[in-house]
Amino acid sequence: MSDLRETSFHTVEWTDDGVVMLDQRLLPTEEVYLVLKSSEEVADAIRKMVIRGAPAIGVAAAMGVALGAVRAVGLPADRFASRLEEVCSLMASTRPTAVNLFWAIERMRRVTRSASDQKPERIAARLVEEARAMRREDEEACRRMGRHGAALMPDSGNVLTHCNAGALATSGYGTALGVIRAAVEAGKKITVLADETRPFLQGARLTAWELARDNIPVTVITDNMAGHFMKKGEIGAVIVGADRIAANGDTANKIGTYSVAVLARENGIPFFVAAPLSTIDLKIPTGDHIPIEERDAREVTHIRDQRIAPDGVPAANPAFDVTPHRYISAIITEAGVARPPYTESLARLNGI
Ligand code: MRU
Repeated sequence: MSDLRETSFHTVEWTDDGVVMLDQRLLPTEEVYLVLKSSEEVADAIRKMVIRGAPAIGVAAAMGVALGAVRAVGLPADRFASRLEEVCSLMASTRPTAVNLFWAIERMRRVTRSASDQKPERIAARLVEEARAMRREDEEACRRMGRHGAALMPDSGNVLTHCNAGALATSGYGTALGVIRAAVEAGKKITVLADETRPFLQGARLTAWELARDNIPVTVITDNMAGHFMKKGEIGAVIVGADRIAANGDTANKIGTYSVAVLARENGIPFFVAAPLSTIDLKIPTGDHIPIEERDAREVTHIRDQRIAPDGVPAANPAFDVTPHRYISAIITEAGVARPPYTESLARLNGI
């Protein structure tokens, strides 16, 4: 059994100098860590996708709030409280789709409320503790998800994934890639087919980078090759992450996920989603209520600084799509595996 317990990089970390993040925009060619010294810098990093992936941006936002609190400690109590609320709103304005971001901010607000009779120093210290706890819990949740999901992976052959739902998208280990890591640790002989994932290329740049580092066999394909390999019988399962899952199981994930799910159904291939409970939004009944982020058209018209579409031609850039629950074979969480009907199974896993 190979042991992949320790990843050799850190996606996001709290340090005495500030919030440290691996700059994912530069991977795989450069491995650069940024030290962010204000909540404004953290918000900007989330917006520009220095850090990305639903669980990772939740943890980053929590650290951004904690950093804002630490920097505001000298203010009078009432100004300290209003500054904290300002920082929470700033974090909430960064990216709209991944519900983990709002879940994390709400958790920080709860800590602030419960400590409101204490001095700013103490409130700030509590917020730092909470953000660090979220980071630890996120990685632990990924490892539990891996244990629940490994049995669903085929014993050998190709598993397709879309975008990056790995250690880079979480505090470590990953959701979809965590399930793959756990399956490989259990001795399964899996090769990952990584969709390149246009336009930001999270599959080609990030999934391929982190799997190659762990010596898990990975082959990059362009997004439009998935159907070809499925029809040839070369894909045994699909597993992806999620940015927000509605109460009925409808799942928002990186743009292109819906097409992969429909292709999987057409070809009789199981399609799995792996996500922590913090990604499940029981307040919304269906995926129609999920806000879809529209990003800068430049991500489509350019690759890095190279223009690839004619000047003046508009481009659309919805960053996510919603896969209807009927295409999803199972949703793997840290609390267990949900099967249809999801309205019941997801509520049960959430203890409702
Ligand atoms: O735009 P991104 O890179 O933040 O989108 C990320 C995804 O769509 C991931 O699949 C999702 O957040 C799950 S990450 C464990």
